Amino acid sequence: MNTMRVSHRLKRWATAIWQVIGAVNIRAKILGIVLGLVVLMGVAATIEVRLLLDQTLTTQAREHSVAVARDVAARATDLTLMRDYYGLFRLLRDTQANNPDLRYAFVIDSEGAIIAHTFGAGFPAGLYDANIVTSNEHHRSVLLATDEGDVWDTAVPIFDGRAGVARVGLSLAAREQTVAAVTSQLLITTIMAAAIGITAAALLTWILTRPILQLVELTKAVTGGDFSRRAQRWADDEIGALTDALNAMSDALAQAERERAEREQMRAQYVTRIIAAQEEERKRIARELHDSTSQALTSLLIGLRSLADRHRSPDLRRQVDDLRGIVGQVLHDLHALARQLRPSVLDDLGLAAAIQRYVADCRARSGLTIDLAMPDLNGERLDPALETALYRIVQEALTNVIRHAHATTASIVIERRDGRLRAIIEDNGCGFDPAALRGDGDLGLNGIRERAALLNGHLIIESAPGNGTTLYVEFPLLASAEESYACEPYSVGR
Ligand SMILES: Nc1ncnc2c1ncn2[C@@H]1O[C@H](COP(=O)(O)OP(=O)(O)OP(=O)(O)O)[C@@H](O)[C@H]1O
Ligand SMILES: [Mg+2]
Repeated sequence: MNTMRVSHRLKRWATAIWQVIGAVNIRAKILGIVLGLVVLMGVAATIEVRLLLDQTLTTQAREHSVAVARDVAARATDLTLMRDYYGLFRLLRDTQANNPDLRYAFVIDSEGAIIAHTFGAGFPAGLYDANIVTSNEHHRSVLLATDEGDVWDTAVPIFDGRAGVARVGLSLAAREQTVAAVTSQLLITTIMAAAIGITAAALLTWILTRPILQLVELTKAVTGGDFSRRAQRWADDEIGALTDALNAMSDALAQAERERAEREQMRAQYVTRIIAAQEEERKRIARELHDSTSQALTSLLIGLRSLADRHRSPDLRRQVDDLRGIVGQVLHDLHALARQLRPSVLDDLGLAAAIQRYVADCRARSGLTIDLAMPDLNGERLDPALETALYRIVQEALTNVIRHAHATTASIVIERRDGRLRAIIEDNGCGFDPAALRGDGDLGLNGIRERAALLNGHLIIESAPGNGTTLYVEFPLLASAEESYACEPYSVGR
């Protein structure tokens, strides 16, 4: 349980540390690695050298103190035996003069009395007993910690101990100075190496990261849809190859984008032409129906009336009246058809009146309950392209409701808001799956979408089988069509 908690905590720390390190940029990472390595190696080398130097110098000082003590013991033999105290004193003083590290020296006679020493005023208490050598030992060295630092105290028996003992104390102050000097030298070298390392690493990271940062800029531009940017190839390495690959990708994307835009433009022109041709054809047929066919039918009507006036036979008159009734009905239907094809009210009275009339026709034809609300139009005229587009959209949407929806009610709302015109056409019919619509082909719902798109607007279809259908069409009021497909005003079917 405990180990689990510890490993969980370790994992959390590792994640937190990685989050911090991971967030740092490459330049800081490389600089950090170089600095860390140089400092680590410098400090490790300094500690190692300090330890080795300390050991070596301590051993050397010990050997030196033994050598000096031996020398003093050898030279003091005769003087001690002769009890030449002054000679002993001079020997000690000369020895000290020749060995600057010698802290002190003294001679003990066979009785254990100090007969010469270099302390001048007084002999330090406790020093005598700090190092006792027996006569069968060659020497004995003891490291003493004194107020003035470490001292190697070496005792050497004089004349195998029969004439006493010579003792010297060799200071280790020189050792400490040497170690301190070498340490500071090593630290200075470390700092200089770190400075050189950081400069070199900074240069290296600049060389490394400059093309990478440029590639980052390039990919950002590509993501933002700007395919015109190219990255400069700095070197012949892997990054150079990556730069070539990304530049080639940008070229391909730019080319694809150009082709897409061309295709889109061609498609828009094609759709515009189809819609214009459709309008033109409707206009032509409507004019034909009005100018030629309905004129002929009207003449026929007049001819039938004069025929009836001229003959008194009731049978004939009844037949002529029946024929007149049929011709009148055909004329009426022809006018309705012409109105649908191109209602003159759209050109003469505007969108609101045309839609009202069309909706009234639909109610009469289909028996469907249709609510119509156009609160913001108030008979005001809009751009002719916009009026034609919206009229055709409502016409197509209502035709669909009547043909496919099996609905009982439908509603149409046309409103202006924030400089946009929005039409919502809703029914409570059977609904359908908009995802199953074919993207090309007929000009029904696709035509609505195209007409809206040509006016910088869009169509949203909300429908599902069994749930009715709602079409949202919206476009900006000020938008002018890329190529207006509105027709010139003309009159028909009046
Ligand atoms: N209001 C609606 N209710 C139910 N189904 C609909 C409705 N509107 C469209 N649909 C379905 O979507 C299909 C596509 O409609 P669209 O208007 O594009 O073509 P269409 O009416 O079949 O033919 P066209 O309009 O070209 O004469 C229709 O066949 C119909 O199945
Ligand atoms: Mg349709």
